[in-house]
Amino acid sequence: MIQRWPHKKKTQLPLIALLCFLFVLCTIFYNERRFLQIHRKENRKGDHIGTPNDVKKTISFLNSSRPKVPPVALDRFSTCKSTVKYSGQKARWDINSIHSDKQQEETKDSCNIFSGKWVLDDTSYPLYKESDCPYMSDQLACHKHGRPDLEYQYWRWQPHGCNLKRWNASEMWEKLRDKRLMFVGDSLNRGQWISMLCLLESTIPPDKKSITPNAPLTIFRAEEYNATVEFQWAPLVVESNSDDPVNHRLDERIMRPDSVLRHASEWENVDILVFNSYLWWRQGPVKLLWSNEENGVCEKAEGLEGMKLAMEAWGNWIESNIDPLKKKVFFVTMSPTHLWSREWESGTEGNCYGEKTPINDQGYWGSGSDLPTMRMVDNVVNKLKSRVSVINITQMSEYRKDGHPSIYRKFWESRSEEQLANPMSYSDCIHWCLPGVPDVWNELLFHFL
Ligand SMILES: *[C@@H]1O[C@H](CO)[C@@H](O)[C@H](O)[C@H]1NC(C)=O
Ligand SMILES: *[C@@H]1O[C@H](CO)[C@@H](O)[C@H](O)[C@H]1NC(C)=O
Ligand SMILES: *[C@@H]1O[C@H](CO)[C@@H](O)[C@H](O)[C@H]1NC(C)=O
Ligand SMILES: *[C@@H]1O[C@H](CO)[C@@H](O)[C@H](O)[C@H]1NC(C)=O
Repeated sequence: MIQRWPHKKKTQLPLIALLCFLFVLCTIFYNERRFLQIHRKENRKGDHIGTPNDVKKTISFLNSSRPKVPPVALDRFSTCKSTVKYSGQKARWDINSIHSDKQQEETKDSCNIFSGKWVLDDTSYPLYKESDCPYMSDQLACHKHGRPDLEYQYWRWQPHGCNLKRWNASEMWEKLRDKRLMFVGDSLNRGQWISMLCLLESTIPPDKKSITPNAPLTIFRAEEYNATVEFQWAPLVVESNSDDPVNHRLDERIMRPDSVLRHASEWENVDILVFNSYLWWRQGPVKLLWSNEENGVCEKAEGLEGMKLAMEAWGNWIESNIDPLKKKVFFVTMSPTHLWSREWESGTEGNCYGEKTPINDQGYWGSGSDLPTMRMVDNVVNKLKSRVSVINITQMSEYRKDGHPSIYRKFWESRSEEQLANPMSYSDCIHWCLPGVPDVWNELLFHFL
């Protein structure tokens, strides 16, 4: 699988680092489904990068009225007939014309809950036991998979100058009574959803809860509260060829930059929506297939350009469908990775493997958290300020180089002897152990509900 990864970036990095890099690229695409088959990449030879003769220099706007023939749904077999360079066209969304009003920005010096430090607290933490949670994923159960040090479970987030509301499962259930809470996004967001189930489930007797698995939408039901806690797999937010949680194309992401409809049909009746999207845009260029494109011509865009289009399509849906008095929408910012230990300890050649404590350096920011992406997200959500709240997990999670599974999780392929001799080469420094960092993201959510 590693050899098949089509990334052709030239790099002078040492072999170990290169292997880590390739490995993590692969792992983030993998779902933890127990029976997951290793994805067999079909070589799509017919697809070529055409020379764009007619690349428009200026940004053009696409008429976003529905095309006469509804566009074909994308799936993992979808292909582009040809590919040209992204022309810069955008959909004509209302959100593009909204300007965030700088004057209206709050100036009151309320405490920034996202700015703080991690303190060891082994009386309140962990908030649940790994082995007690029936919904725990093998991808995140680090202790079960042999992690010997458990300090990563005992850290509390302490904001500077104020306190985070203490987690209380019964109180959370009261907030969720007669409601639907839905997490929408990629495997990081799924980790947060699993954390939420683990945080909540113990107060519900076994015969009063149920879960419907194996679908793009997984639903946990708590009968007594008439409430659901759901997860929808939508790694690119908009419709794409990767919307199947198990079988998706990792090498060639094709997306509809102007359509969230496939996913949004499920969002309509949800009371609390929690979105994320980031790492899937960090894997090189994406292909755009506009809804009114009838000849299968894709445009190849950089990840950040693609994400911006997706965020705008999403923002447009929020703008026209969310009544802030009735519904709550959250956007969780990028989850940091810890792929290069030299970023927090110069001279070292490792990654998160073997890390046992958080970073102490206030304001530490690693190369995995892309600032242009953060600014773009900032910009889009600012226009939606009355409707969307940001859960800014990036800085706080940057400190937690100790929070990743590294080698202590289930892997779907057996390890070669060479890899086993060098654990760093297959460490997962992207996802997070549970109990752990995502529990605190959920405490933030609880705090804002
Ligand atoms: C654009 O959409 C509007 C309806 O919103 C329609 O009246 C108009 O004819 C469309 N223009 C083009 C060029 O398709
Ligand atoms: C948790 O919340 C419930 C219901 O809101 C309340 O009765 C209980 O005292 C709270 N528990 C703690 C430890 O604060
Ligand atoms: C359960 O919750 C839904 C909203 O999610 C509501 O429409 C329905 O009336 C509730 N059912 C009961 C029995 O309260
Ligand atoms: C999140 O926090 C970081 C650092 O604390 C800040 O630079 C960034 O602008 C924030 N992002 C959003 C979307 O609020």
